Amino acid sequence: MNEPLPQHRPIRSFVLRRGRLTLAQARAYDALWPRFGIAWKPGEPLDLSALFGNSNPVYLEIGFGNGESLAELASRHPQRNYLGIEVHRPGVGHLLLEIERRGLTNLRVCHHDAVEVLEQGLARASLAGVYLFFPDPWPKQRHHKRRILQSRLLASLARVIRPDGIFHAATDWEPYARQMLALLTNADDLFVNLAGPGAFYPRPQTRPLTRFEQRGARLGHQVRDLIFRRR
Ligand SMILES: C[S@@+](CC[C@H](N)C(=O)[O-])C[C@H]1O[C@@H](n2cnc3c(N)ncnc32)[C@H](O)[C@@H]1O
Repeated sequence: MNEPLPQHRPIRSFVLRRGRLTLAQARAYDALWPRFGIAWKPGEPLDLSALFGNSNPVYLEIGFGNGESLAELASRHPQRNYLGIEVHRPGVGHLLLEIERRGLTNLRVCHHDAVEVLEQGLARASLAGVYLFFPDPWPKQRHHKRRILQSRLLASLARVIRPDGIFHAATDWEPYARQMLALLTNADDLFVNLAGPGAFYPRPQTRPLTRFEQRGARLGHQVRDLIFRRR
């Protein structure tokens, strides 16, 4: 009898959480997705200037959750474009509602695995900055392989962030913060630590406060920021 072929399932940085869309989110999907959503297909290159209708610099947030930071940043900086990628559908719905509430025109949303979009959808040096705020910490040793910031993602970041562009990460999980710092420090031919060698960046006022950060603070976790410039 033939052995079944082994299935190669990629290791994902997320497990899709259940969660229904609220009625308002479902309406937002119907009404707003055609204008603000990006129906990306694996392998397809994204034309950012066409998507935004201008050639303003583009900043990406990976895993925006409910989109609180992204909506706030987009409303503070109308001369910049913001792209959000998130796998959690209710989070996408929440952000669509926020786009409508704030009347934003400079934000687009992609509902997909960010690792794939970075590798297959974004052109070299197409982004002015990338944010990774409070990525899932995967605290158990056996789950560390699920952490999104690995050398694979770092290679994509180095490719898509333009020279002098920024990578800004924040986490309230100290061991993950140290792992990120080590990984980025190791890539010092590509990225420069704006806090100085081996240091975390003091919390910048420019980073909006999210519920994840507030929760971390309540649990007594220290929040660490890492800001690196692409060489
Ligand atoms: C802990 S939450 C933080 C959300 C938000 N950045 C904040 O600070 O409030 C992490 C988010 O990353 C999303 N996520 C994890 N892996 C992802 C991936 N590969 N692509 C897109 N989103 C991802 C999860 O669905 C989750 O919403």
